[in-house]
Amino acid sequence: MPAASDSLDAKIAARVASLDPAQFASTFARQGAFLYLDDVLPRDVTAQLADLARTLMPAVNRNYLPGHKQGGSVSRHAIDKLAPLISELYRSRALVRWLQAIVGETLLLSPEDDPHAYALYYYTRPGDHIGWHYDTSYYDGRRYTLLLGVIDDSSCRLDYELHTRTAGITPEAGSIQYAPGAIVLFDGDKLRHRITPLGPNEMRVSLTFEYVTNAHMRPWRRFISNMKDAVAYFGFRQVFGKLAARSRAPRKAI
Ligand SMILES: [Fe+2]
Repeated sequence: MPAASDSLDAKIAARVASLDPAQFASTFARQGAFLYLDDVLPRDVTAQLADLARTLMPAVNRNYLPGHKQGGSVSRHAIDKLAPLISELYRSRALVRWLQAIVGETLLLSPEDDPHAYALYYYTRPGDHIGWHYDTSYYDGRRYTLLLGVIDDSSCRLDYELHTRTAGITPEAGSIQYAPGAIVLFDGDKLRHRITPLGPNEMRVSLTFEYVTNAHMRPWRRFISNMKDAVAYFGFRQVFGKLAARSRAPRKAI
C-alpha cells in the first residue's frame, strides 16, 4: 500500500482512538440508528477535502427535479479519477472499524459500479435543496450513510425525523447544521430527512459515504437504482457510460 494511504489511515486511526465508539453505540441505537458528532475529522484532512471540493467544481453534474431536488453532485467515478484521497478515506480501515463498532455490524464497501459509494453534493445556487426522503437501500442488506461536512457557508439545515418506521415509538423531529469536520451516521431506510434550501450568496458541499451489509442487488432493483442515479444525481453518462465501459472490458479470469 502506498505511503500516502498509510498516513491517511494512520491519521484517522489516531483521531478515532480518542473517540471511544462504545459511548456512541448506545446513542446511535437509542436514536433509531442515527448519530451526529461534530469535530470528528482531523482539521488538515477537512481542509484537504474542502480544497478538492473546490477543484472538482467543473466536474459537477447539476440536476433539478421539480418539487423535490435541486443541486449538483460528483460521483465516485469522477472522484476516482480526480480526487483519490476521497476514495482512500472511504476505504480507511480505521474509519470502517470505528463505524462498525458504532452500528454493531460488519460493513462492506459499496460495489465498484455504485456511483453513490462516495460522492460530493454541491449546493451552490439559491434554492438548492433536497426534499424529504429516505436513503433507500436497493441492496439485499442495509445501507448506512455517513455524511461528512466539507464546506458550509450556508443557512442550510439537515432536518430529520427519528423512529418514523418503528411501531410503538413516537417520531422525534430534529434539525442540525453539520459543520466541516462533523459527521452524521444513519441507516438510510430509517431516517427521514431533507436539506433546506440554500440562500443567496451561500455555498455548501457535503461528502457522502455509503456502506452496506450485503453487497448483492437484484437486477431489477439495480435497474431502478441506476435510473434514479442518472436522473436525480449524476447524469446518464456517469451512470450508464461507466457500465457500458465495464461490459466492454475484457473479463478477468477468477
Ligand atoms: Fe439523503
